Amino acid sequence: MANAHAKIETNIGLMIVLIIIMVSIGGLAQIVPLFFMNSTTKPIEGLKPYSALRLEGRDVYIREGCYLCHSQMIRPFRAETERYGHYSVASEYVYDRPFQWGSKRTGPDLHRVGGRYSDDWHYAHLMNPRDVVPESIMPSYPWLAEASLDGELIIKKMETLRMLGAPYTDEEIANAPKTLEGKTEMDAMIAYLQGMGLTIDSRR
Ligand code: HEC
Repeated sequence: MANAHAKIETNIGLMIVLIIIMVSIGGLAQIVPLFFMNSTTKPIEGLKPYSALRLEGRDVYIREGCYLCHSQMIRPFRAETERYGHYSVASEYVYDRPFQWGSKRTGPDLHRVGGRYSDDWHYAHLMNPRDVVPESIMPSYPWLAEASLDGELIIKKMETLRMLGAPYTDEEIANAPKTLEGKTEMDAMIAYLQGMGLTIDSRR
């Protein structure tokens, strides 16, 4: 036994291989259970898959790169929960594909921004942030108010998400294009933001 140990300690190649095996076992023991635990795979009570309008808003959020300045994950620290509300939990993200956690906070975290402001505030803020927050460095997004949603891909998007587990009914999918008629990207973005993080009541 002592001999075997000496062999490992004097053979760096063998040591690297054995370390990789050890670390992989440790990593798998931490990661694999997450795919089967209820707290990470089951939606939190009250969580609904994105409506067609919110789904379109989410895609605009991704297209415009809002995640480059905004995170959507409140960490469990006092300074965070005092400012943003209840910390984020895994089961709130079950229908987020891909999730928008982000890691850059040039602006505030948005995970619980739903209901914090009126629709009109969001409209003014997205048209020109300086109209409502004079010191803001956020860019303006006035074109969202002019771009209408065509809804061309919404059925395919919802069907794909259903394949991945979002519980849409046939009726919801069939009616989706109709619910987008006459709506702009601005409407979709505001609907997306206003529904954010509402499943945990975090307002003190
Ligand atoms: C260059 C960085 C940057 C980008 C890109 C950006 N923001 Fe912001 N955002 C900020 C900053 C800074 C603030 C804080 C000042 C303010 O309220 O305008 C902010 C504030 C906000 C707020 C108010 C949050 C609160 O709790 O008060 C919302 C909502 C928001 N942004 C949404 C968006 C959306 C939607 C997009 C993409 C269309 C976006 N932001 C893109 C920097 C950015």
